[in-house]
Amino acid sequence: MRKKIVAGNWKMNKTFQDADDLLDELVDQLDDLDLSGKKVVICPPALYMEMAVDYADEVPLSVGGQDLSAYEFGAYTGEISAPMLQSMGLEYCIIGHSERRKYHGENDALLAKKVDIALDCGINPIFCIGEVLEEREAEKHFEVVKSQIENALFHLKAEEFGNIVLAYEPVWAIGTGKTASPEQAQEMHAFIRKVVTDKYGADLANEVSILYGGSCNAKNASELFANEDVDGGLIGGASLKAADFVQIIKSL
Ligand code: PGA
Repeated sequence: MRKKIVAGNWKMNKTFQDADDLLDELVDQLDDLDLSGKKVVICPPALYMEMAVDYADEVPLSVGGQDLSAYEFGAYTGEISAPMLQSMGLEYCIIGHSERRKYHGENDALLAKKVDIALDCGINPIFCIGEVLEEREAEKHFEVVKSQIENALFHLKAEEFGNIVLAYEPVWAIGTGKTASPEQAQEMHAFIRKVVTDKYGADLANEVSILYGGSCNAKNASELFANEDVDGGLIGGASLKAADFVQIIKSL
């Protein structure tokens, strides 16, 4: 049985005090939930990771990074490395988010390196893929997503690929309030699973969790998660309010 996952990507939001308040509220609400068979992850700004890890001790909550460097250590000002995340006991890290691709020029070759170093350090990549609006309008979305997966992930051995979580995030849906329809999400997720099946076989493909991301919220989560190939969500804006995030977790 593949894992059902809800991951919150806080992006560059919250002051220290606000982050403390949100964590406090979240832990309080998670305490009352039955989380068996579900994995809840939050990816706060790196400055607040230690605080998040402390809070996460109290409930079944995992903490992840939002990005990591392609290098191990050294003169890379501002960067955070996989061994650093590992030393904080983190299990997950988002890699290849469309905002990193767009604003930081991250390409498939760099992302392949980031995936390798994460896996070397025992961190499970939450690897983001997804097309921009023009690509969907030109009906190139399947082709684009397939090549993102092939170029950054298909050098991996099967046992390595087994540690990847995929997140399909159509870029036109991120932070825009325009969610993919449940049909669009299921269609793409089934396609992604087929791409993985063709490379690694059905057994492994059936074990890979594929999350949906892009304006997923407390209202639309359950109809998105009801689809066979949608194994949870990567949540941006709606992860910044404890009540909304918890409602999304309940929808899983
Ligand atoms: P959003 O962001 O939920 O705010 O659309 C999702 C993401 O970028 O991971």
